[in-house]
Amino acid sequence: MTLNAPKTLLILFFASASLARGQDPPSEETIAFYEQNCMSCHTIGGGRLTGPDLKGVSERQTREWLVGFILDPKKVIDSGDTYAAEILRESRGALMTKVPGIDRTLAEKLLSFIDAESAKETSRYAGLQVSDRPLTDADIARGRRLFLGKDRFEGGAPACVACHTVNGLGGLGGGRLGPDLTSAYARLEGRNALAAWLSAPPSAVMQPVYRKHPVESEEILALVAFLKNTAESGSSDAPPATLSFLLAGFGGAIALLLVFDFLWRKRYRAVRRPLASGRLALDRQS
Ligand code: HEC
Ligand code: HEC
Repeated sequence: MTLNAPKTLLILFFASASLARGQDPPSEETIAFYEQNCMSCHTIGGGRLTGPDLKGVSERQTREWLVGFILDPKKVIDSGDTYAAEILRESRGALMTKVPGIDRTLAEKLLSFIDAESAKETSRYAGLQVSDRPLTDADIARGRRLFLGKDRFEGGAPACVACHTVNGLGGLGGGRLGPDLTSAYARLEGRNALAAWLSAPPSAVMQPVYRKHPVESEEILALVAFLKNTAESGSSDAPPATLSFLLAGFGGAIALLLVFDFLWRKRYRAVRRPLASGRLALDRQS
């Protein structure tokens, strides 16, 4: 077998790159997992969001502790660990969620990835690509139109109103699958944290939808402006008329599909579980 020259060069390049760091470069899967499951709450070198800045975290705790924490944050906190109590307090009581689908090997890989990013002067994960320019009235108006589905998202994401409402929406109201977002701006602790949240929503319902249809940074900024404005004006309105909105038009049809898909999945699981445990009970009897 012969290797052609470009291939050999490529192999040499990767071999030397990983030698330089003393480990394999993080795989695409590890990076994708980080982006989808960790980035919404953490930066690497860009300051705290919901969770602490992870830059240099391996200098603060042992690898073993960090792996244990990533695998089951609540367990470590409940064990009375003083360091865990400290970072929980610094996060004002916000609890890191146990990330589904994670195991020890993946946690190790994520930590190696975080170490590699920490070693860089500026990590790509230092902060959002969302600009910190002042928010304008035009942003608020655009955010409102995006929220309501009057403007379409570039990436084809569904309108927020399919699942959420806020005060001041007027007659039609919004969906009820997600929480009322009137005070989301304050609850998620302001502009940067909310923008980070929206750029990779850690919500089990939103993530699968918005991963496929990411909201671009100017759109996020507009939504943040809209939600900030909503939180500040705090007007209270008539209760939302969910179904009449859902049935109103094309956006509603997509929303209904999403809602039914979601409900159906839940239902499917709800049926499966009793069946499986019934089976177990029978096994034990025989
Ligand atoms: C919902 C927000 C959220 C998500 C998502 C999240 N974390 Fe966290 N993380 C936190 C918070 C908050 C803390 C601080 C401890 C606490 O309050 O639970 C934390 C703490 C940590 C720590 C310890 C930090 C320190 O300073 O010692 C590590 C390491 C960590 N997270 C890694 C991860 C990784 C890796 C992922 C993705 C698999 C992830 N986190 C996903 C919120 C989150
Ligand atoms: C398919 C339904 C759906 C759509 C569409 C949707 N969300 Fe959500 N959202 C949810 C659900 C459900 C939750 C609650 C968290 C969970 O259970 O996953 C949530 C939670 C949130 C939260 C966190 C609220 C809090 O207080 O913690 C914010 C912020 C949010 N959504 C903003 C948006 C924005 C902005 C849009 C439009 C770009 C949007 N959502 C579109 C279903 C949706």
